[in-house]
Amino acid sequence: MDHFLYRNGILHAEDVALPDIAAQVGTPVYVYSRATLTRHFRLFDQALAGMDHLVCYAMKAASNQALLAVLAREGAGMDVVSGGEYARARAAGVPGERIVFSGVGKTESEMRMALMGGIRQFNVESEPEMALLNAVALSLGVVAPITIRVNPDVDAKTHAKIATGKSENKFGIPIARARQVYAEAARLRGLDVVGIDVHIGSQLTDLAPFRMAYRKVAELTETLRADGHNIRRLDLGGGLGIPYTRGNEPPPLPVDWGQVIRDEVGHLGCQIEIEPGRLIVGNAGLLLSQVIYIKEGEGRHFLILDAAMNDLIRPAMYDAHHDIVPVVESGLGTPEVPMDVVGPVCESGDTFARGRMLPPMASGDLVAFRSAGAYGAVMASEYNSRPLVPEVLVDGDQFAVIRARPTFDEMINRDTIPGWV
Ligand code: LLP
Repeated sequence: MDHFLYRNGILHAEDVALPDIAAQVGTPVYVYSRATLTRHFRLFDQALAGMDHLVCYAMKAASNQALLAVLAREGAGMDVVSGGEYARARAAGVPGERIVFSGVGKTESEMRMALMGGIRQFNVESEPEMALLNAVALSLGVVAPITIRVNPDVDAKTHAKIATGKSENKFGIPIARARQVYAEAARLRGLDVVGIDVHIGSQLTDLAPFRMAYRKVAELTETLRADGHNIRRLDLGGGLGIPYTRGNEPPPLPVDWGQVIRDEVGHLGCQIEIEPGRLIVGNAGLLLSQVIYIKEGEGRHFLILDAAMNDLIRPAMYDAHHDIVPVVESGLGTPEVPMDVVGPVCESGDTFARGRMLPPMASGDLVAFRSAGAYGAVMASEYNSRPLVPEVLVDGDQFAVIRARPTFDEMINRDTIPGWV
């Protein structure tokens, strides 16, 4: 459920009419609903009620300071994957003890930054990383709390580019080698092994792979405890999918996922962490765009928008589907026509949808890409020198620009021409 609804035929974000935002901020622009964001965070928090737990929002999904601040006030932790994300989380008011550090390629300076600034745990993904983290911690005279990410070799049944839990993926340590690696970790004085971490992929719409992975983690917990390790925390990753196409059967809910967690690892008495990203912010954001032209091709109609692949890359990169809706509803019974929805960028890949059924539209009309809050703005670029797409946050009847569109000068002045040119 989200808070983007039609009122008198005009799409609103909470109580704000989207054309008002377009008029004041221009298009393309990302628009987020605070009520939807907090609602989705709370669904996860409630799904684990009664268990000792922390919901660590995977901020790679959307990392604007305002969004992080909203979630921080809800008590969210953060899952970060870079020094930049760590800095953003801290700047938005998230304390170090609520930040977990994931990622296959943590650098020495990132480790140093988190160890000095405060960190709940590192999710270690390889033996060389473990050795380096140990050395950095010892050099600082501190002990680094860690989990080790295991790769359970489970097929998450999602798009190949976002599946992470099969043995051929670069993530984690093969679960078969886990005992050996934990034994090695226990010998390192700069590390405190607190638990196990697993994440098998993103946009999962079936709970079975989660269940399979968590069952393996539960078995491993018992084995490692028998080996003498004090396993007291399980980070179970993120990955629950969202409904991208209205009308299709919706994916399982956070409460259903929570039940799987209770079933599979509830008896172990561990503290539980989860790292949802997409489901917290995905349906809390949309991309608002304006029609530039309607172009009649050879047997095809092209809807040319002012948004492009640089603003929302998911369709080009993952063949992702986003519902595209007119901001002003057309009258009941208006016949729809198949349109190829495209942006102005000079590549055929700059196509959002082919043969999408849409009511007749004209230049100047507004459209919205639904479910664009996650992996939308954060993956945007300035390709074709299109200034970075701005972001707006709505709360009830008020809205604020939370990242302004750079002017051409601001965009250009980030470059420098060396004196010797
Ligand atoms: N934890 C780890 C270690 C992850 O790698 C990810 C996502 C998450 C949590 C959050 O997963 P979520 O709950 O958002 O599914 N750009 C792609 C998605 C990449 C996901 C990468 N890792 C897309 O637009 O679909």
